[in-house]
Amino acid sequence: MIEEDNVFLVPKKGSSKDKEKDKENDKGVLKPQGKKLLPKDLHPNESILEQAHNEKNKKVFKKRKVEEVATTESDNTTAKRSRTGTGTGTDVGVSTISKVSDDQDMCEPETKYALTPSENQELYSFTSKFPGLEESYRILQKIGEGTFSSVYLAKPVAKNLLPKGIKSTVALKRIYVTSSPQRIYNELKLLYTLRGHKNVAPLLDVLRHEDQVVAVLPYYEHSDFRDFYRDLPLFGIKAYMFDLLKALEFIHSKDIIHRDIKPTNFLYDPFTRRGVLVDFGLAEIDMEPITNKCPCSFGGYTSNMVRQLNVDYAGQFPKNGYLKDDQRPGRRANRAGTRGFRAPEVLFKCNNQSKKIDIWSAGVMLLTLLSRRFPFFNSTDDIEAIMEITNIFGITEMKECALFHGLEFDCNIPKIKDKISLEALIANAVMMDCKEGDTFGEDSPAWELLAAIDKKGVIQDSEVGREYAQAITVLKKCMVLNPYERLDAKDLLKLPFFDEFRDIPQESGSE
Ligand SMILES: Nc1ncnc2c1ncn2[C@@H]1O[C@H](COP(=O)(O)OP(=O)(O)OP(=O)(O)O)[C@@H](O)[C@H]1O
Ligand SMILES: [Mg+2]
Repeated sequence: MIEEDNVFLVPKKGSSKDKEKDKENDKGVLKPQGKKLLPKDLHPNESILEQAHNEKNKKVFKKRKVEEVATTESDNTTAKRSRTGTGTGTDVGVSTISKVSDDQDMCEPETKYALTPSENQELYSFTSKFPGLEESYRILQKIGEGTFSSVYLAKPVAKNLLPKGIKSTVALKRIYVTSSPQRIYNELKLLYTLRGHKNVAPLLDVLRHEDQVVAVLPYYEHSDFRDFYRDLPLFGIKAYMFDLLKALEFIHSKDIIHRDIKPTNFLYDPFTRRGVLVDFGLAEIDMEPITNKCPCSFGGYTSNMVRQLNVDYAGQFPKNGYLKDDQRPGRRANRAGTRGFRAPEVLFKCNNQSKKIDIWSAGVMLLTLLSRRFPFFNSTDDIEAIMEITNIFGITEMKECALFHGLEFDCNIPKIKDKISLEALIANAVMMDCKEGDTFGEDSPAWELLAAIDKKGVIQDSEVGREYAQAITVLKKCMVLNPYERLDAKDLLKLPFFDEFRDIPQESGSE
């Protein structure tokens, strides 16, 4: 029986034995927020976040005083604090683990870190299994948790433990013992290679006790992506993408592919407009394309060539759908990364993957910010992920893309046919949210986008229209199916969208 809506890939689809990382995306929650209003009063360079910034700074200091007497904290607020990693101690708990000196500056986290019993227990278990750790670092609170690590905010006991110019708080990344020694070594080595750029987190120190490894990084104040992706004005999006591409330009100049570009690995502070790339756990060295690894290195196959390869199995092919018992050799490739951010060549298991996979993921981040949708792609597996991309690029281009990597692709979903423009995709995504329940606040920059692009994707001939056109040009140069035609970070930064940032001299160094 032929399944409807099947996707047909030749040679056969992925072996279940692939042991690559396949992480879930965080899901954004859309909250209704009041009435719509065109943003005529908003200065294009100003976000509501920025307007709130000074207010926030004032409040944080007041709140710290309040925390000293407050006594309770719900699990939800704890989770939120960990998630945001702001370290500003906006929530309160039942006990404290440490007290830091009084000579810190006002922007740093407060003198007391309130912890729930479970947080307290976790920190106790960590420090007790790691003798000597507390002699060097005083752990203040947990600020993040990833697939391979937990991250804590800490203060060095002796100030001279930190290189000059680095702020006095650090992030301790406790790499889980289940990570392979090779993986840990790779991450630390690459972090060490990548020091010296303000948009890339440098490695300050490494501690080891038996099988436990802790990487010491500067602590970066940042906001949870889910707290700002709907509110960032176009200027903020530009600043975000500029720092992200600067980080990529730097790591790519060292021939390093990050492989896991996504919002949680790019710590961005919308108040200071500063972004830092972290998490080199999946990073690898970029290699020259090798001819026998994937046909993409010599321009791909034609469909006749692919059929020729499958000639031995020709009699077994059903008219539509999968082979029931597929005997063809499977294809294996590195698919490490996060669902929704994987480039088409990763999904098609190309063995000549390059730095351009990071550029695709950066494009997905830009698409997310412009469309105010997170996660933008939400597939449960790679086949669905291919279909999501096919929905945008159309079947013809996807077939070409598959052949380029030596595969034949077919799909019998009648609705998916033609390519849709990225302009129309973005405008419709925003519009859909408006229809679904007034999800944007009255001062949301989403209204500006709707004033700049109509539902057919036509961009208005206005100042704001031209700015959105520039942003979409960047997007179109990132989200190119053929990695060889996708621009690199250096060339993307030369596009007019970044003019106003490019001319500002960039400070170097890690802080
Ligand atoms: N230097 C830092 N400053 C502030 N917060 C940090 C820092 N490094 C990491 N974090 C926080 O910890 C979280 C997890 O860190 P990281 O991504 O390095 O770990 P991971 O285990 O490799 O994560 P994953 O595999 O899920 O991407 C980050 O998303 C961030 O919120
Ligand atoms: Mg991470």
